[in-house]
Amino acid sequence: MAISNETINEIKTRADILEVVGDFVDLKKAGSSYRGLSPFTNEKTPSFYVSPSKEIYKCFSSGKGGDAISFIMELEGINYIEALKFLANKYGIEVEEEEQTDEQIQAQNERESLFIILNFAKDYFAETLLEHDEGKSIGLSYFKERGFSEETIRKFDLGYSLDTWDGFMKAAEKKGFKREIMEKAGLILASENKTYDRFRGRVMFPIHNVAGKAIAFGARILTNNKKQPKYINSPETEVYHKSNIVYGIHQAKQEIRNADMCYLVEGYTDVISMHQSGVHNVVSSSGTSLTKEQIQLIGRYTKNITVLYDGDNAGIKASFRGIDLILEHDLDVKAVVFPEGEDPDSFSRTMSSEAFVDYLKENAKDFITFKTNVLTDGGKKVDPASKVQVIRDVIASIALIPDGIKRSVYIQSCAHQLDIEEQVLLSELNKLLITKQQKENQQRFRENEPPEAANYPPEAVQEEVKETHYTSYYVERQTLRMLVNYGGEPFDEETSIAEFILDETEEIKFKDEMVRKVIEQSSALLARGEKINPDEFIGPHDPVMSQLVIDLLELNYFISSGWQERHRIGTPHEKDDLAEAVFKVVLRLKRKKLEELTSETEEALKNSTNPQEQDELIKIYIHYKRLFDEVGKQLGIVVAK
Ligand code: CTP
Ligand code: MN
Repeated sequence: MAISNETINEIKTRADILEVVGDFVDLKKAGSSYRGLSPFTNEKTPSFYVSPSKEIYKCFSSGKGGDAISFIMELEGINYIEALKFLANKYGIEVEEEEQTDEQIQAQNERESLFIILNFAKDYFAETLLEHDEGKSIGLSYFKERGFSEETIRKFDLGYSLDTWDGFMKAAEKKGFKREIMEKAGLILASENKTYDRFRGRVMFPIHNVAGKAIAFGARILTNNKKQPKYINSPETEVYHKSNIVYGIHQAKQEIRNADMCYLVEGYTDVISMHQSGVHNVVSSSGTSLTKEQIQLIGRYTKNITVLYDGDNAGIKASFRGIDLILEHDLDVKAVVFPEGEDPDSFSRTMSSEAFVDYLKENAKDFITFKTNVLTDGGKKVDPASKVQVIRDVIASIALIPDGIKRSVYIQSCAHQLDIEEQVLLSELNKLLITKQQKENQQRFRENEPPEAANYPPEAVQEEVKETHYTSYYVERQTLRMLVNYGGEPFDEETSIAEFILDETEEIKFKDEMVRKVIEQSSALLARGEKINPDEFIGPHDPVMSQLVIDLLELNYFISSGWQERHRIGTPHEKDDLAEAVFKVVLRLKRKKLEELTSETEEALKNSTNPQEQDELIKIYIHYKRLFDEVGKQLGIVVAK
């Protein structure tokens, strides 16, 4: 359903950014702003700011920023409408819903219907398990035999599907559900001459989304029939994308946040048994290899994952990719290995909850120790060749960690554990980092994206490499960043930075429409004799412009007094010589634009058949090329011939 504009306005007026953010972040006053530890990264020094007067937040460690609604969207991983409802709920605002267009209704209806049928199915299977004779004698007794308590069974909405062709279909039809929607939900299968239940004679494990709605099922066989798969799972549907969800997240999320850690296991039954043993911060990737989206989902609640393995070395080696993927997404990873032949489910049942919890705590190893142990077969392989292999392998993992400080901590620990000089490890690491950065930049260059994720050039890469990879998008945004943040400050005795930038770029055509808009608005402000400051562009009048400027905001916006935090500012030393920094940014912009003009002229020259026009184009080409080289020289770039 769409929410009426009136309701949206009421939510926006009532939602106070300090209150909304304050529910999740411990905020302390810092000048005119408030400051706290980022909920998006596990930083140790606070770089998360809230400006109550502008009703915005900005996180300098992740680069995220926006208003109260986008904060909730980001933190809870929900969409705009869901975030509005979240806030309405917080402030006790009644949500008035509004008429939608036919298309909206249809798309919405389809998803809603899928949720409705899937949740009907969940209830139906649960009821069958608890009430039906076959369910009780076969399904329920199976769960009881495995040691699942009634409470556990209810907590996970476990169920049973009758061993008939159409038990579910009949029940759903009786309720008025159409076969078409049952099929779309993956609950029935239709061939040319037969339509029948997908799940038959199996115990049912509903898979819930974060909000607790059933979106799919895993169904376990109860016989030893080797011809049948052990589990039958729902197919991908409109509401179920296997790679985006982890099993148990709904039941675990609160405890993951509280414990600031998430256990990761392989199977449905591992999750359930661990819950019963009192470990509630646990999810499962459901037998598939871990995906980026699954890591990001967990990452919304904690930056610490502990992977639990059964003691089979081959299987563990195969899972190294998962560990690397976690590191790559800036999460910390530990591992616990169980004794040979035991998985979390079986192992937890051999001991008391306390003993199990202790085992997990005592056996959690950081990934270096863990990898080293696995690769040396528990320290058995000590020959030089194996050692070299281990070092390479571990450094390759460390190189994936985006945070430089974390990398050096791990390098230290690695040097200590493997008894190698830190310097040797560092130079190996740097080699890998430079190669990686170059590859990434080439990739971004191809995709016309800025040379790196953050606003600033990476330090590891030499100047020439960077210069050749700047893109139009990047230099335009850099120019705008200087304009909105520092426009009001002096460039020299007579000119402000805004005046300098606008003068110098007067003839430049900005490709990005929104950048153009901010530049135009700035010119208008200057013409009226007003100063440029980010507040001019942030606000409800233009959400897109507002978001762009928030993305570009610098720390000084939030710190009104003094520069005591100068060292925390993103671009090192930029503030020390603003004029120099602005000058460089403008030169880079010009160079990029001249490069574009040069290649456009070259293109025109190729296509031209008129000799007179060709002469003219050659002159223009030479002119641009000379300017291009000149600007390059001013930037200190060696011109390649
Ligand atoms: N799995 C699957 N299809 C299979 C086998 C496994 O989808 N044919 C997935 C399931 O999500 C399962 C997980 O892989 O939970 C782990 O497999 P396994 O350890 O065999 O299953 P368990 O859930 O541990 O079941 P049980 O303890 O009853 O053996
Ligand atoms: Mn198992």
